[in-house]
Amino acid sequence: MPEDDSLFTITEAHLDSGMRGIPVGTCRTSFVDPIKGVHYVGYPVEDLVNLEEEDVIYLLMNKRLPTEDESKTFRDELVRRGENIPTGALRVLESLTPGSGHPMDWLSIGIMALGTAETTGDTRGDAMNLIARMPELMARIFRLRNGKQERLRPRKPELGLVENFVHMMGYEGERAERVARVLRFFFILHMDHGGGNLCTFSGKAVASGWASIYSSLASAMNALSGPLHGRANQACLEFVQRIGTSDHDEIEAFVREELDNRRPIYGFGHGVLRAEDPRARLLIELGEEVCPEDANFLIVKALREVIPPILGEIPKISNPHANVDLASGSLLHSVGFRLPEYYTTFFGWARVAGICAQIMDERNSRDGRGTPIYRPKYIPRNQPPRRLA
Ligand code: MLT
Repeated sequence: MPEDDSLFTITEAHLDSGMRGIPVGTCRTSFVDPIKGVHYVGYPVEDLVNLEEEDVIYLLMNKRLPTEDESKTFRDELVRRGENIPTGALRVLESLTPGSGHPMDWLSIGIMALGTAETTGDTRGDAMNLIARMPELMARIFRLRNGKQERLRPRKPELGLVENFVHMMGYEGERAERVARVLRFFFILHMDHGGGNLCTFSGKAVASGWASIYSSLASAMNALSGPLHGRANQACLEFVQRIGTSDHDEIEAFVREELDNRRPIYGFGHGVLRAEDPRARLLIELGEEVCPEDANFLIVKALREVIPPILGEIPKISNPHANVDLASGSLLHSVGFRLPEYYTTFFGWARVAGICAQIMDERNSRDGRGTPIYRPKYIPRNQPPRRLA
């Protein structure tokens, strides 16, 4: 029995509210404490952020961290599954016009193309194949959109998922290390965020009709692509660049004018959190390590101080604090990813693991019977009984 029955009382006010706060299921991979932020299988994400990314994926899938042997076996499995991307899928990507659409469109098309080439129907196998292919898919999207049709550098089996992406992109030496440090950190922070965030929920809803992992994840990526969800990290760096100063008075004037004109303030607030997102703090701490003097990063730090008190004056804003998007773009920019339109693809890449793990859980739930097909109820409105004359 639920501890608090009121959790399950649906009132008129819940209708047409985006299902905000309405319990619809259970989640075993992560939970979001409104004050302490996201925890993966009970661990606060800050405890995990310096682990190998494969070990965190293992945690989400198996609900415990791997032993050393299990970790090696899991990494070897990913290496094996990541070999030789299907040529059919490659041709689909190569046929797109460089620079056309948004990179998230390419990500979704790329996942569908992989699914066309290699869906097996085995949920775990397909999930592992997709996770294993993501570094190459990501690198190809970057290259092909730039009009660089030449083959990527081949994957190196001894490298992990993030390092392999960095390697295939052609980064080397100290630059490669900086990029990998920031990307791995970003990757682990974005892997999962409870069951109800839009991309995860959408992916699971599609999967509940027994669509393939690839179709479900492409749907999840489409859900992530909107500016109210994953694309906020792109919008946030563009916002930071528009502000262009770390002077507190100038920022305050800018923000008040945006609010007066009913324009969004990016990087603040959250649907579930009611305090500063710990992922925002962790990214700012990483920024102090990798790019303390970077101009965008300095603006981000100033925004973190100036904006919450201003938003706090507005009674309907329940959380005026920084969220994960505030600093992530400035860090990606500082290590050389100059085009904000790519940032959501990194978010999507990371969340593939969490969503796959949640789909696996839903398919195994209820003693193996699985979660039934999603079918919430909509109340009819403005539909008086009618007949054609
Ligand atoms: C996040 O990572 O903050 C989310 O995906 C947004 C949410 O939880 O609704």
